[in-house]
Amino acid sequence: MTQSTAQSIEDLTQTALGELALLDNSDALEQWRVRYLGRRGGLTSILRGLSQLDIDQRREVGALGNRAKSTLEEELEKRSQEVSQARLAQVADLERIDVTLPGRPVATGRLHPTTQVVREITDAFVAMGFSIVEGPEVEWDHYNFEMLNIPQGHPARDMWNTLWVDYVNEEGQRPMLLRTHTSPMQARVMESMQPPVRLVVPGKVYRYEATDATHEWHFHQVEGLAVDEGITFADLKGTLYEFARQIFGARRQVRFRCDYFPFVEPGVDMSIDCFSCEGTDSSCRICRGSGWIEILGAGMVHPYVLRAVGYDSEKYTGFAFGLGPERIAMLKYGIDDIRHFYSNDLRFLRQF
Ligand code: PHE
Repeated sequence: MTQSTAQSIEDLTQTALGELALLDNSDALEQWRVRYLGRRGGLTSILRGLSQLDIDQRREVGALGNRAKSTLEEELEKRSQEVSQARLAQVADLERIDVTLPGRPVATGRLHPTTQVVREITDAFVAMGFSIVEGPEVEWDHYNFEMLNIPQGHPARDMWNTLWVDYVNEEGQRPMLLRTHTSPMQARVMESMQPPVRLVVPGKVYRYEATDATHEWHFHQVEGLAVDEGITFADLKGTLYEFARQIFGARRQVRFRCDYFPFVEPGVDMSIDCFSCEGTDSSCRICRGSGWIEILGAGMVHPYVLRAVGYDSEKYTGFAFGLGPERIAMLKYGIDDIRHFYSNDLRFLRQF
């Protein structure tokens, strides 16, 4: 009896230790503990059976059992530590950064050159106290033409090659179009607010156009409008001169010449002196030898337009201007074909 109990303690210890060495997670370790050292565990049952032995044997085998118990407990503790350390090492391994690996390039997008130039232009005007508004690209004839002193049948309509929307109203007219310029926003804004008005309108415009190096059927404009009591042509000149210097450099000179737009009077176009040859090269590609580069149209808001929106044209005056960001970008960066802007060629776009 003594012998066989002693033997089963020894066997159980060996089996338990053999199993323990293979365990690699805390759940399994806990199950192992319950199996051998728990209240109904293997070793516990053997020790409970000791009561049937006589006193000497009990002492002998009891001591054996207690030693086995502490061995198992110690080994369990050791194994638990090993397992948790291995787990930590595993986590550290996953998180380790190899600083000698070459970096992975991250492909980033960028702003379209037109967006960049539009922002540069509007920033220059915002710095002078203008706010930014935007308007609809599908527009009514009413705002694109009528309100701007360009009635039905007026020859000035030929200045804009219009893309009409295929919608016919009850009177048999096509009153809707893709806006040919941002000027309709002049009328929309003034209709909705009283002076003082000082804002710029960046946006897309559309023309029925055969494309070539200097013509696109779709491009951008930035419209400007300032209306208040006592605004004069000197304000127009000062504002646009400052703008030209902001965009093309402090040394720029500007020139105004008479031009015709039905919604301004007087109307002008503004040129800057050629920043490429400064008027010294008769074969200059940028100014074509003239020394001047036209960059925008402008003028004093026509009293007709002021009255059409309900302003008192005796009390208020104002100036308006319209410029083309693509044209400005072409000048600034020496781009020779406007079609590059919207043909989505990454070799072009990545240069900005
Ligand atoms: N809207 C005009 C155009 O597209 C430009 C312009 C705007 C001229 C404002 C004068 C005043 O050609």
